[in-house]
Amino acid sequence: MGPLQIKELLQKAPEGQAVTLKGWVRTKRESKNAIFIALNDGSTIHNIQAVAEPGQFAETIIQQVTTGACLRIEGSLVASLGAGQSVEVKITELEVYGTADPEKYPLQPKKHSLEFLREIAHLRPRTNTFGAVLRVRHALAFAVHQYFNDKGFFYLHTPIITASDAEGAGEMFQVTTLDLDKPPRDEQGAIDYKEDFFGREANLTVSGQLEGELGAMALSKIYTFGPTFRAENSNTTRHLAEFWMIEPEMAFFELKDNMDLAEDFVKTVIGYAMEHCKDDLAFLQKRLEEEEKSKPQKDRSLPLLEKLSFVVDNPFERLTYTEAIDILLNSKPHKEKKFQYPVGWGIDLSSEHERYLVEKHFKKPVILTNYPREIKSFYMKLDEDGKTVRAMDVLFPGIGEIIGGSQREENYDKLLERVKEIGIDPQNVWWYLETRQFGTAPHSGFGLGFERLVLFVTGMGNIRDVIPFPRFPKSAEF
Ligand code: 4AD
Ligand code: MG
Repeated sequence: MGPLQIKELLQKAPEGQAVTLKGWVRTKRESKNAIFIALNDGSTIHNIQAVAEPGQFAETIIQQVTTGACLRIEGSLVASLGAGQSVEVKITELEVYGTADPEKYPLQPKKHSLEFLREIAHLRPRTNTFGAVLRVRHALAFAVHQYFNDKGFFYLHTPIITASDAEGAGEMFQVTTLDLDKPPRDEQGAIDYKEDFFGREANLTVSGQLEGELGAMALSKIYTFGPTFRAENSNTTRHLAEFWMIEPEMAFFELKDNMDLAEDFVKTVIGYAMEHCKDDLAFLQKRLEEEEKSKPQKDRSLPLLEKLSFVVDNPFERLTYTEAIDILLNSKPHKEKKFQYPVGWGIDLSSEHERYLVEKHFKKPVILTNYPREIKSFYMKLDEDGKTVRAMDVLFPGIGEIIGGSQREENYDKLLERVKEIGIDPQNVWWYLETRQFGTAPHSGFGLGFERLVLFVTGMGNIRDVIPFPRFPKSAEF
């Protein structure tokens, strides 16, 4: 089934074997005695070197072998004399599938800035950095499914088009079937978007949680893993308009069980990537070290693999929101008025506060719990004090919030009260409320922003560089 990939070939093909290579040229070097072609097919960070003799092929063919061109090479695997590789391919046949005019092809063998590469998102997977990021991203996605499958969870596909605003934050993309040439108008003549999806209001999902809860009330343990949309106009290195979220939801889990699962889950999937993406992570670590060379020693981050091992090997710090506020009130930046946003019980922690706790105070991942009810979503279970809810946020160094979750309110009356309090029409969530009328159960769940995880594991600095085709305000046209 198809040719041997370069990764397999480097791992297991014996010397002397006849091989077929198909891939894209990274570089070509010509010396008096040989022509060296470095070929990559994306299966690994490593190139394979293919060697031809001068005069072996017509000059018109060799001229077409430029960076970015796609080739088929037949040859035999031989021991390599060159540094950095044990084998190379002695070429017997060469076919150019597709040329890449060096005057026009934007990816030349030099270092391109990530900003530039963002503008050519259709070609950037062919760079070492993006190849590595995309392979790590794949490994993490695979590990997510494996983890939940092993633990008896069922993968539930929740809708992308929905009428619910699970987070109540109003950051939704509307879905419309209106004929915009002849849209229905209200009495004032404005377009009547009210009935836009075949007679109903609809939007792209901001979270699969509410539907996930329905699944958990039947299958006990489910998870979702799908595209999620937030119409927030934020131009940060941590936000996308379209991202992937993983949302497990578990019947009979209390907040403590939820925290234990979240911690075990992230540690396991990070561990999987460390074990299965060694070469790519080593490359990304080196890339980061080069990027940080200009910084003074004290400002440089830990080597990537050390940072990942630390997270996998050490327990996360767990404390309540109220305890965190006390720490912040007693902190140097607060006393010296260095925080941009003042600290006090009831505030929604901003990223400077979260980063102080994680990076300066505890120096490890932190799980914060029991936030004030006013700053959290309506579905979270009220604590006995009536002031806080059983929320949990997992905060990571360099990232901030990576997971948000909670125990859910399973009491019908309390949930209805919260729904009304925040101004949701109970008619719109009747199906959700019914789960609390028919066989309600204590349950919990959380959401992990997949790109924030990939960001952490790859050590990249901008969330736009860990998803193949990032969507953000004014993003690319395709
Ligand atoms: O904290 P959030 O908004 O929580 C929920 O949506 C819950 N319904 C989850 C649940 O309990 N099932 O989002 C969860 C996570 C955040 O911690 C963050 O990692 C990520 O989703 N996230 C984003 N990632 C990228 N771009 C954005 N605009 C994001 N908004 C949230
Ligand atoms: Mg959150």
